[in-house]
Amino acid sequence: MQSRGGSSTGAFRRQGEMVLGLLADFVDRGHRGDGEVVRVRAVDELARTMDLARLIAEGGADDDDLRVLVTIFLDNATNVHHPAYMAHQISVPHYASALADLISGTIANGMSVYEMGPAAGTMEIAVIDWMLAKVGWQPTGRNRDRKPVVGETPGGGVLTHGGSLANLTAMLAARAAAAPESWENGTPRDLVVVAPACAHYSLARAVAAMGLGTSALVAAPADGLGRVRPDDLPALLDRLAADGRRVMAVCANACATATGLYDPIREIGELCRDRGHWFHVDGAHGASALLDEAEAWRLDGVDLADSLVWDAHKLLQTSALCAAVLVRDGGTLGAAFRQEAVYVTEGEREVGFDFIPQQFECTKAPLGLKLMLVLALVGEDGLAANIAALWKNTRLINDRIALRPGFEVLCEPESNILCFRHDGDDALQTRVRKRIMHDGDFLLSQADVGGRRWLRMALMNPLTDVATVDRLLDRIEEIVAEDRRYNVPPGGSVGMEGL
Ligand SMILES: Cc1ncc(COP(=O)(O)O)c(C=O)c1O
Repeated sequence: MQSRGGSSTGAFRRQGEMVLGLLADFVDRGHRGDGEVVRVRAVDELARTMDLARLIAEGGADDDDLRVLVTIFLDNATNVHHPAYMAHQISVPHYASALADLISGTIANGMSVYEMGPAAGTMEIAVIDWMLAKVGWQPTGRNRDRKPVVGETPGGGVLTHGGSLANLTAMLAARAAAAPESWENGTPRDLVVVAPACAHYSLARAVAAMGLGTSALVAAPADGLGRVRPDDLPALLDRLAADGRRVMAVCANACATATGLYDPIREIGELCRDRGHWFHVDGAHGASALLDEAEAWRLDGVDLADSLVWDAHKLLQTSALCAAVLVRDGGTLGAAFRQEAVYVTEGEREVGFDFIPQQFECTKAPLGLKLMLVLALVGEDGLAANIAALWKNTRLINDRIALRPGFEVLCEPESNILCFRHDGDDALQTRVRKRIMHDGDFLLSQADVGGRRWLRMALMNPLTDVATVDRLLDRIEEIVAEDRRYNVPPGGSVGMEGL
């Protein structure tokens, strides 16, 4: 809070209040469904509108400059509080986590070592223990004076900046279990990772970045919707063994990014347990169903996993980013990183705990604070109720789309993700999505499933109701009618592609 003129907490209070007002207006506009959900404008144009070059060159913005800048910024921000937001898997954050972001930015506690944020470290351990309990694993039990040892310790976990990093961390733990010498010698060439072909791309990225190469990623047998078929898994594992390949991990989706469908966790878990394979569950999106009594069965058997990724910024009303990588045996996480750096970690501690021996990041924001404040204000029951509402809403909306002539749904949804399409080819679905995004009235994503392109909704916002979706479907029909009028060469080209 130091400026050239000395302490600036006066400006902090004044400008903070002003910015908070603008943010509250932004959220209110979202709740009312006012204006566009997104404005996709060109980078150069937007940079000019925000006057970024001048501000960078000159600095010295006063209250008015700041108000104008933040106002334009928010006018061009995607509004996830808007009911027409149904695209990507970002929580509609509870304001408690936004306040946590403000606290975090102000105190700047890079809390990976205990003395850089004892309160933040304590909260991270509290939320990790809470998540471990939901999975059915032991709490960390860290009294937290040494790095956990494999086989000796109860559950473990850390928060990371996102599910992608959490997946990488889980794969590093799996590698350490399969080939501990990899840290020094590099990843052996005989290791493979078995995963659904529709696993989130961060898994392939982790495998490639670890030096296995994507050719070491073997597709698990799956049904037409991409769900793992456990009955066919033993034959694949036998074949890999016969080929001299060692299975570093078997992975499952809970749920899959594209379809929102869950793999049969228990059956895969039992197979892995019996055959001694590391079992990784990517629950970045869908592990939150553990909180909802009616839906938790979809993760039945998750306690058999060795590692689980669970993002709070997807379905726990927590602002991005806040992801957890959890392990059944806390020692396995420590084994992933075989480094002792005296200048960043204390080793044996009298009080507190260092996260660095178990995580990729060095400096880390107090991520636990975000989830902790949400839990403190909303409570576990509130989070569960939100998930139940989203899941119910998604089923209603799916039924609604299925009844509409000209539309087709992929399947009965198992989470808050659904896929649908309008009659027509794949290119038409893409044109529709682009057109809708260009108009700014709705925001959808898309997915390829079963060799066809689908429009995809991730219904993150409980305000997105059947009436919102009726308006969307009306709009899609108009766009398709227009498309057919102006854009018809059979075999299909791209009249509106440039939009
Ligand atoms: C199943 C799954 N795993 C991992 C990720 C990556 O998470 P993040 O965006 O937090 O890096 C996603 C993101 O959509 C996901 O759906």
